[in-house]
Amino acid sequence: MKILILPTVEAVTKHAARRLARQLKRKPHSVLGLATGGTMDRLYAALPAMVAEEGAQIEQMRSFNLDEYVGLSGDHPQSYRHYMATRFGVPLGVDLARMALPCGDAPDPAAEAARYEAAIAEAGGIDLQLLGIGQNGHIGFNEPTSSLRSRTRIKTLTRSTVAANARYFDRPEDVPTRAITMGIATILDAREVLLLATGAAKAEALAAAIEGPLAAASPASALQLHPKATVLCDEDAAAALRLRDYYETVHPGGRDPSFGGPL
Ligand code: PGA
Repeated sequence: MKILILPTVEAVTKHAARRLARQLKRKPHSVLGLATGGTMDRLYAALPAMVAEEGAQIEQMRSFNLDEYVGLSGDHPQSYRHYMATRFGVPLGVDLARMALPCGDAPDPAAEAARYEAAIAEAGGIDLQLLGIGQNGHIGFNEPTSSLRSRTRIKTLTRSTVAANARYFDRPEDVPTRAITMGIATILDAREVLLLATGAAKAEALAAAIEGPLAAASPASALQLHPKATVLCDEDAAAALRLRDYYETVHPGGRDPSFGGPL
């Protein structure tokens, strides 16, 4: 795992945007694995300028999002489909038909999960998967104790995840308690993975993911099995890392010479 510690949340955002833009420049038909949440909000806001700066083409990409709430239709303002349309598709000029998410209001959510897993495979798999991390170590909505070999399926959200999501809903009783999420094995199948973590609230989960045992109790620790996983974090999220000296020796200031040119 490559650990890049950058000084600020802005530096993490810019670096991630540049990686994404360069991926699209190298391979305009990339299949991206996309995520939602506050961390991704900042990244998507930075993307139009970065795509222009890097001279990348974004119109030909396809994407698969990690997850969607069970019970919400795609036009619900808190659905992730709506989030992706307003934060990514429309501002970047990507045809929404190229951006796949599970259908949260499918009549048979289990069948929808299986269909989604198959659609990712039919698209040739994911080239670059973006990930945030929950305070409890979840990736996607793979909550602690998710099978490390799981595929896309329905998960019940933990109380802490429901509480963290409540900020987006008017009434607590409106917050969905189940989601269709890519599984951990689905995520590990991506050819490259980029996890973003910023802020002190993520420090413990990040340390468990990178330096703790491989454990279903820390779903993000599954990335230890991935041959090409990069973690981008700010100083606050890096605060609980015991081997920080080592990461900063290998990548001073979060620089990554293998990436080709300054970030
Ligand atoms: P956040 O969510 O970016 O809003 O912190 C990340 C996550 O829970 O996966």
